[in-house]
Amino acid sequence: MIIVFASSKGGVGKSTSCAALGSYLASRGNRVHVMDLDQNQTLAVWSERGKVENLEVAAVPPEQFSEHFRTVAQNAFDHVFIDLAGVREITLMKAIGKADLVVIPAQHSEPDVRQALTIVSDIKDIEETLGREVPYRVLFTKVRPLKTRLDQFIEEELGREQIARFDTVLVDRISYKEMFLNGVPPHRKEPERGAGLELAGLAREIDAILGADSKLQAVG
Ligand SMILES: Nc1ncnc2c1ncn2[C@@H]1O[C@H](COP(=O)(O)OP(=O)(O)OP(=O)(O)O)[C@@H](O)[C@H]1O
Ligand SMILES: [Mg+2]
Repeated sequence: MIIVFASSKGGVGKSTSCAALGSYLASRGNRVHVMDLDQNQTLAVWSERGKVENLEVAAVPPEQFSEHFRTVAQNAFDHVFIDLAGVREITLMKAIGKADLVVIPAQHSEPDVRQALTIVSDIKDIEETLGREVPYRVLFTKVRPLKTRLDQFIEEELGREQIARFDTVLVDRISYKEMFLNGVPPHRKEPERGAGLELAGLAREIDAILGADSKLQAVG
């Protein structure tokens, strides 16, 4: 399964959700390859901090996207995760074209929702060109534990625009931040609560979206 983490905005939580979900699935026995397309190499640096079994990260310069993707496709990975830079450029379009699922992280804010709409409209264009559906979901990240009226309004706005979203949200948690400091995957820090529960919920939803042939390991 090829899962692309895309947004046209920086700092919305692409790398965090990619690394957290990737390491969660790897811990369930899935072989995960992460293509880090970000110039800052956030995930390549992270993976050096603490190795995660079954998960490998490759820093891929944008101009090598297609070549790297071809090589990876020949290997028996259960999942290829693609973490993109927060800009709307050609690599983002190429990655969407390969995706089984596009995850669009966004915070509960008007600019984030607007950028999510832009990506969804790009996905629609690419679907037309490819002649196939490209499933996507908005993933709310850095969510405040207590929902405010603004959060509610933003969620309703997404509904009005008929934009699909995950029911699962990633709450603003220290375990997601610490991952980049000490390399410890969030689900390992909080296996039965917090991040662990969120990532399990996300994996279940993805499994349902991708259908019966998905190789995601069911959560025990
Ligand atoms: N659920 C969360 N809880 C707490 N902090 C978070 C969460 N998600 C992201 N962050 C923090 O927000 C910042 C930006 O996150 P991240 O690097 O994942 O965003 P990004 O979309 O990949 O950014 P860029 O476009 O620059 O690559 C980081 O400091 C990260 O630790
Ligand atoms: Mg990033």
